[in-house]
Amino acid sequence: MKTIRVINGPNLNMLGIREPDIYGKTDYKALVELIEKHAKEIGVNVEIMQSNHEGDLVDWIQESYKKIDGIVINPGAYTHTSVAILDAAKAVGIPMVEVHISDVDAREEFRQVSFIRAACKKTISGHGINGYLEAMDFLNQNC
Ligand code: DQA
Repeated sequence: MKTIRVINGPNLNMLGIREPDIYGKTDYKALVELIEKHAKEIGVNVEIMQSNHEGDLVDWIQESYKKIDGIVINPGAYTHTSVAILDAAKAVGIPMVEVHISDVDAREEFRQVSFIRAACKKTISGHGINGYLEAMDFLNQNC
């Protein structure tokens, strides 16, 4: 059975509270439950993590080496700033899908830059929390 890791960056723990008009009303706990339910349905193991700290995301990507089949990553604001997360993704070479709840390419100019994209097989942006499930389906078929 494949193991997929879902890595969430800063402020995603605030889902349901933060800017609900942009990120929706579902809270982080409900997102985790939805992902776990979907993993059961498609028959994959899933590990879900969230941190507000850049180094945690780097560590979790590094730890995935030779252990994890695919990574779904929403680096939050680190999408637009972090060369360190990009370098970690390139170092492990694990199939990765970038997910954004909002349509980052239709928002402020600074959100239209993604460092992680260069290491990802696919980007899913603006599909709400359903984007996580689509990313899991893609990895299940492509990793
Ligand atoms: C986000 C978009 C980012 O620009 C923002 O900083 C986030 C969430 C999204 O899921 O739409 O924290 O990655």
